[in-house]
Amino acid sequence: MKSDTPNHQVLQALVPALAKATGLSTDAVAAQLGRPPKPEMGDYAFPCFAYAKANKVPPPAAASQLAEKLAADATLAPLVQKVEAAGPFLNVRVKPGELCASIIRMIEEAEGRFGESAAGAGKTVVIDFSGPNIAKPFHVGHLMSTILGASLGRVFRALGYAVVGVNHLGDWGVQCGFQFLAWQRAGPVERETQLAERGLDYLCDLYVDINAPAREVSVLEAELADKEAVVNPEERERIKKRIAAAKPEADARDVAARELFKRLEDGDPELKQLWERFRKETLRYLQKSYDRLGVKFESDAGEGFYEPQLKPLLAELQASGVAVASEGALVIPMDDGPPKPGKERKPPFILRKSDEATIYGTRDLAAALYRKKTYGFHKNLYVVDVRQSTHFQMLFKALAKMGHAWHKDCSHVAFGIMQIKEGDTVLPMTTRGGRMIPLYELLDRMVQIVRDIVREKNRDLSADKAAQVAEAVGVGAIIYWVQARRRASNFVFDWRQATDPNGDTGPYLQYTHARACSILRKSQAQPGSWRTADLRLLVEPEEAAVVKALEGFPAAVRRAGDEYEPSLIATYLLDLSSAFGNFLNKHRVLDSPPALRQARLALVDAVREVLAKGLGLLGVAAPGEM
Ligand code: ARG
Repeated sequence: MKSDTPNHQVLQALVPALAKATGLSTDAVAAQLGRPPKPEMGDYAFPCFAYAKANKVPPPAAASQLAEKLAADATLAPLVQKVEAAGPFLNVRVKPGELCASIIRMIEEAEGRFGESAAGAGKTVVIDFSGPNIAKPFHVGHLMSTILGASLGRVFRALGYAVVGVNHLGDWGVQCGFQFLAWQRAGPVERETQLAERGLDYLCDLYVDINAPAREVSVLEAELADKEAVVNPEERERIKKRIAAAKPEADARDVAARELFKRLEDGDPELKQLWERFRKETLRYLQKSYDRLGVKFESDAGEGFYEPQLKPLLAELQASGVAVASEGALVIPMDDGPPKPGKERKPPFILRKSDEATIYGTRDLAAALYRKKTYGFHKNLYVVDVRQSTHFQMLFKALAKMGHAWHKDCSHVAFGIMQIKEGDTVLPMTTRGGRMIPLYELLDRMVQIVRDIVREKNRDLSADKAAQVAEAVGVGAIIYWVQARRRASNFVFDWRQATDPNGDTGPYLQYTHARACSILRKSQAQPGSWRTADLRLLVEPEEAAVVKALEGFPAAVRRAGDEYEPSLIATYLLDLSSAFGNFLNKHRVLDSPPALRQARLALVDAVREVLAKGLGLLGVAAPGEM
C-alpha cells in the first residue's frame, strides 16, 4: 500500500509500529504492506526481507522476531488481535470491529473525496482521444478511444492533474476536396437541410457518393486482375467496357477534388468558410452522442488547425538537418548509421511527399510541439488503436531527434480491436450495405435491448423513469464492456452478454449500486444519521471483506492512472460488488437490532459511495433507483 493511500486509524498505528520495530521509514513500510493470500491468514501482510538483510538473520527468523516485538507494542494492543510469522512474512489480524470502524470512518471523513489524491497537483496531462474523421464514419475504434480517453481524463482529474482533452479531428486532406465537389453538385436547399439534420452522416454520404465511379473502377480492375475469377473472354471485354465508361468521370472528379483541396490549402476564403461549417456541423452532430457518453473536450483543434504551422516547421527541420530530402520527399530518417547486413532499413518518418503534400504524421508532429508549448504537459497521451503503433513510435522518435527530451513524456495508449457479434456471426460492426452504422444508432439499439430487462427488474418504475434507466443501462453497458478487460486485448462485443444484469457487466454494477441506495431509502433513516453509529459492531467476516475491498479503491484509481488502464477500476468494482453481495446474502441490514442496523447502514452507504464514484470514473451512470 503506497503512502498516498489515505490513512486510517489502524494503519496510523500499524505503520509507525512496524517502522519502529524494523528501523525502516514509514514510507518504506507503507509501500511494502500488502494482503496475505487468504483472509484467514490476516488482514495485512508485511514481507520481512529488508529487515532480515539489515539484521543478517534468515527472513523467517526475522518474521518471528518482529512478531514478538509487535505483540509487545502497547500502541497496537487496542486495535490488533494477532501478529503472526508465516515464513518470511508477518501477518497481522486486526480486531474485526476496529478494522471496519477505521476504514468506514476514513471514507466518511473524506467527505465524498475518497479515492482522490493530490498526486498530480500542478501537472497537466494532455489526452488525445476520439479523433473521428469528417469524411469517414465514426467507427468502433473511435468509440473505444472516446470511452477510454474520457475515463483516463476523469481518473487523472481525480488524481489531482489538470487535464486537456483534445479531439484531434481528421478534418484535413484530399477528402475535403471531394466533399466540396459533392456539395457543389448537390441541390442548394437539399444540402442545407441534410447537413443540418444528418451532420457527419451526410458528409460521409457526400464522400461515398462522389467516389462511386472511382470505387467502381477499382472494383472492376481488381476483378480483371484476378485472371482465374473471370476467364470468359466476353465477360472480360464487358468489364473492360464498363471500366472505360466509368473512368473518365472518376478521373475528372479526382482532378476537380484535388484542385478544390489545393484552393483550400492556399486559403480560398469561400472554401475555408465551408470547411469551417463542415467542422462545426460535424462536432455539433457528434456532441449529441458525446453527451450521452458523458464526454467533453477542452480542445477540438483537429488536423487542419496545424496547417499554418507546417511550412515554418519543415523549413526549420530542414535547416537544422533533422529532415532530409529523399527521392523528392522530405523525411526524418528513422534508421541511423550504416545499413546492417541482412536487416531491412526502417522506413523514414515522412513529412512531405514528393507531390508536395504534407500528411497525417506531419500534422501530428506539429500538434505535439504545439501542445508542449501551449500546455507545458507532464504527459501527452494518444488513445488510439494498436494499428497506429508504428506511427506513434516514429512520431516520438522524430521528437527525440529534434532534441526534445520530453519525447519520453509522450505515450501511445494503444487498445485492441473490438468486433461485434450479430447472431452467430462476428462482424466489424459498422458496415451496413457499405455504409456505417452511426454511433447514435448503436447506442439506441443497446437502449432498446435493455428495455425489457429494465421493465422485468422493476415494474413499479414510471414510464419516464424506465426510459431514463434504460438509457443509463444501455449506454452504461457499452461503456463498461469496452473497459472490462485490459485495453490491449481484442474482444467480441455481444449485445446480450454485455447487458446481462447477472454477469460481469455494467448493468450488474448499476443494480448493485441501486440495491445499496434502495436499502438506505427503505431504512427511512436520515441520510448521514449512521455517522454516529458504533462501527465496532461490524465484526462479521463478510463485513471485514467488504471494508477491505473498500480500502483498495484509492490504489485501484492510482494504478488505473499509472498504467492508463481504466479496466483496473472495472475489475475493482466487480470485486467490491461481489464482497457486498456476499454480505447481503448472509446478513440482514434493515431487520438488525437498532445499533447494529445503524452500523450496517454506514457500511452500505460507504459501498454506495465507492460504487458511484468508481462507475463515475468509468463514465457509467449510477441511477439510485432502477
Ligand atoms: N483521425 C485518426 C483516425 O481516425 C485518429 C486521430 C488520433 N490522434 C492523433 N493525434 N493522431 O485514425
